[in-house]
Formats: sequence, structure tokens, C-alpha cells
Amino acid sequence: MERQSGIQSIDGGSRVLSAESIVELNERFRTAGPEVVLRWAIDTFAPKLALASSFGAEDMVLIDMLSKLEPATTIFTLDTGRLHEETYDVMERAREQYKVTIESYFPGRDAVEALERERGFYSFRQSIEERKFCCRVRKVEPLGRALKSVDAWITGLRREQAATRTGIDAVEIDASHGSIVKINPLVEWTEPQVWAYIREHHVPYNALHDQGFPSIGCAPCTRAITPGEDVRAGRWWWENPETKECGLHLDGKQGAHGTGH
Ligand code: ADX
Ligand code: SF4
Repeated sequence: MERQSGIQSIDGGSRVLSAESIVELNERFRTAGPEVVLRWAIDTFAPKLALASSFGAEDMVLIDMLSKLEPATTIFTLDTGRLHEETYDVMERAREQYKVTIESYFPGRDAVEALERERGFYSFRQSIEERKFCCRVRKVEPLGRALKSVDAWITGLRREQAATRTGIDAVEIDASHGSIVKINPLVEWTEPQVWAYIREHHVPYNALHDQGFPSIGCAPCTRAITPGEDVRAGRWWWENPETKECGLHLDGKQGAHGTGH
């Protein structure tokens, strides 16, 4: 059954938007603002809709907006086992302030035990392949599980964040996750817009942002940056910028430089 015009059933029941409707939506959303995108996402997909949150600044903005639009929206996080203490701290503050339930997805126990037994505790420093292997075990596989039961997911991706993200749109088909819909409401926003929203709406944020961390991932793979450095310079800082994706966002929209595979 169709929920709304433009949604089709394909591949034995998976729901996706037609290519034409995606073009139209992205045209409409270019100047509409993130709340309009979220309103559409809720009306179209809830309750089979979830926000993927690492509790960075962008995700906190989205949690604040969702709490006003549809507080029951599922929020999940990929708890890799290597997160900063400050990240758990802001997760707890979000729970308290917004009265939300946060669904944690852990990596598979056997896979992490084998990873640490066979490759050690800092294998990700040895090569890009080892780093991607760790990301696959600790993030990508759990993400696959988190997305199994939804028709659409929301992320805090912004186009200006990275060379690997210049080609993204507000609404996309996520080919690497069963062709569900991927929604990036902040795609057009700049970093100052994110921070203006946080200040204006008194949104809690990760304490590491005040210590020179604009982008926060796992503790051993994230460092502070110095003024003038690229915002993602502190993520996997030993790699070159064109490889710096952990595999969560490999759906063919990575822009001219995308080499995340
Ligand atoms: S990453 O791919 O390099 O790790 P980044 O930290 O920029 O991504 O975050 C981009 C978006 O990916 C976030 O806004 C969020 O939607 C999602 N994301 C990243 N890390 C996680 C995580 N640990 N748990 C849930 N979602 C995440
Ligand atoms: Fe492993 Fe680092 Fe990737 Fe976290 S960011 S999953 S520790 S390689």
C-alpha cells in the first residue's frame, strides 16, 4: 500500500522514493530549512524512521528539533566501545533534558573479541585497511542491524564537512542499506549556523567541542585541531582526507573525491 504519492514498493516490499520524486524533494528542500525536511520525514515514514546520533553538534541540533516536532522519533547510537567519556556525558544530558530513549547498538561480541585477540588494541593505526576493518566491526555492522527495521534514517551530515561529502543531498536512496531513504536535513547548513542554533535554543553539547574538537568519533581516532585546520583534520589524522570515511556513509553520493570504499 502506498503511504504517500511518490513512495513505491519495490524488491518485494522495500519502500523507496522514485528517482523523480527525489529530484523534486531536493529542489523543494534546498531553501526550506531543516525543520521542513524533518516534518516531511516524520509525516512520510514515522514510526519506521530513526535518527543516527553520535551526539556531535549537528546531531544535538536534530534531537532538539525532533523533540519539538515528534519526540517519539527513534534515536540510536553506535556505541563502538571506544567513545570518549564526554560523549557518554552528553548522551546522558540529552536523555535527561529531552526525556528520550537512546537505543545503543554494540558491535558483535565475538567479532570484537577476535579483533582484539588477533590484531591488538590499536590495529587501526597500522594501515587504512586495518582501520576500515575496525570501523566495519564496530560501526558498519551494528549500523546494518539498526537500519533493518526502518524505512528511512536521518543523519547530521553536512555538505561542507568534507571532500567526501560534497555530493550529498537532503534526500537520498541508501543503496548500501537495502535502498531505504537517507535524510540529511542539515545538508545546506554551515558550521556557524549549527552553533547559532545551539546557542539560541540552549542545546546541550559535547564538552570536547570547547576543547578544539569540531568533529568527534572514537577516542583513539579523534584529536583536537588547531585554528585554521580543516574541521575533520582531527579524525583519523594519520590518513589523507580522501579516505576519511568510516563506512557509515558509502551510498555512492560522496562527491568528486569520494573514495570511502
Ligand atoms: S563519520 O562517518 O565520520 O563517523 P561523522 O562523525 O561526521 O561521521 O557523523 C556524521 C553522521 O553520521 C552523524 O551526524 C550521525 O548521523 C552519523 N553517525 C556518526 N557516528 C555515529 C555513531 N557512533 N552512532 C550513530 N550515528 C553516527
Ligand atoms: Fe575503530 Fe577508530 Fe573506527 Fe572507532 S573510529 S571503529 S576505534 S577505527
